[in-house]
Amino acid sequence: MQNGAVTQFPAGFMWGSATAAYQIEGAADEDGREPSIWDTFSHTPGKVLAGDTGDVADDHYHRWPADVAAMAELGLKGYRFSISWPRVMPGGQFNRNGADFYSRLVDALLERDILPVATLYHWDLPQHLEDAGGWPARDTALRFAEYAEQIGQVLGDRVHMWTTLNEPWCTAFLGYAAGVHAPGRTDPAAALTAAHHLNLGHGLAVKALRGVVSPAALHSVTLNLHHVRGDAEAARQVDAVANRVFLGPMLNAAYPDDLLADTAEVTDWAFARDGDEAAIAAPLDMLGLNYYAPVRVRPWGGTGTRATSDGHGFGPGTPWVACDNVEFMPLPGPYTEMGWPIDATGLTELLRRLHDDHPGMPIMITENGAAFDDKVEADGRVHDDARISYLREHIAAVGAAIAAGVDVRGYFAWSLLDNFEWSYGYSKRFGLIHVDYESQERTWKDSAHWYRDVIAANAL
Ligand code: FCB
Repeated sequence: MQNGAVTQFPAGFMWGSATAAYQIEGAADEDGREPSIWDTFSHTPGKVLAGDTGDVADDHYHRWPADVAAMAELGLKGYRFSISWPRVMPGGQFNRNGADFYSRLVDALLERDILPVATLYHWDLPQHLEDAGGWPARDTALRFAEYAEQIGQVLGDRVHMWTTLNEPWCTAFLGYAAGVHAPGRTDPAAALTAAHHLNLGHGLAVKALRGVVSPAALHSVTLNLHHVRGDAEAARQVDAVANRVFLGPMLNAAYPDDLLADTAEVTDWAFARDGDEAAIAAPLDMLGLNYYAPVRVRPWGGTGTRATSDGHGFGPGTPWVACDNVEFMPLPGPYTEMGWPIDATGLTELLRRLHDDHPGMPIMITENGAAFDDKVEADGRVHDDARISYLREHIAAVGAAIAAGVDVRGYFAWSLLDNFEWSYGYSKRFGLIHVDYESQERTWKDSAHWYRDVIAANAL
């Protein structure tokens, strides 16, 4: 990168940006939408900073035409959005009005030559399904496949790439073990059960989609794989419960033996029935990877003060099921506004490992980005040099992986717009475009201008 060297990206490399329904749409009770677990969670006092909710968010549900115009100006090749399950299937019934919103969005994207990349589940479980047991209930996986088939019938002729789940690790372990995400439960066994039913829902949804959508569409899942540094045995243990719990059944049709052994005291895995692993391993065309920061671990002997710097904070529980003998160590800075260390080499290392472990599986970076304390300055602009550096380093890290032979097909910056950052509410800004939540005014940050130039050059 230095000395004027240019990293050229392969022809057709998909430059994109990503968002998620609950984080941007607002319009929480319009056109028949049912509340999701995030509506319930955010409306529960003490769960989200400053009592923020997604009721209005970026009001994208009404402002989408202008937002799509901004995407076109950026030159995006792809746009990754998520579909709100409670909009499309409120109370379990198909809702045409909810589906039509996505149909209009997809048409507008295609008119501007932006390929739609649709995620089916970005954490907004319909509340009635949580009331019936949530992801720890097997039935949720079956309902997910039903929803996939319904929305697949509506959008299947136009969506370029389908992504079943976004970051099932967060759903299972932040939602059902740590309790820092909706639905806020702190039950380690429920978290592993949820992980299995997310895996099963994924496999069943891929199968359902393949039955109804265009044969040209690509099928994928997005995982937030953890790049684990530090002591080899502690790292193996964390890798099992954070990464291979998903990669194993999805790509190799089997849960790893060491995972089953490590978690034996929490559950006997009886919820995983004969044939489930084969169903989970429905063939995929692409693996989506979200990367923000690595973690560092060492064995924990159980005395003194245990470091808890895993980057996710600790709520009432820990997300690290069956890891009582592991300590999460602080990593050197600099840090983003989330307190996450900036470490782009971890991305290259993780990509190389995936390439070695799963040869022939193309990878898409479906999220990468950083929160900083952005302000609109007196000159009317947002000078987010730190974000430009972050993006430059990480895109260079992707370039380095490609040069090393890893098949990376695209890069999606998180996020297009500042938005509702889950339990942090509106306090953390990840957008390329600044949003004034009072006026809903959008202002391009310097990073948006910079990213537009990278896309135009297909080079860094
Ligand atoms: C990821 C989520 C995304 C966003 C970023 C910062 O874990 O998928 O919705 O919150 O983190």
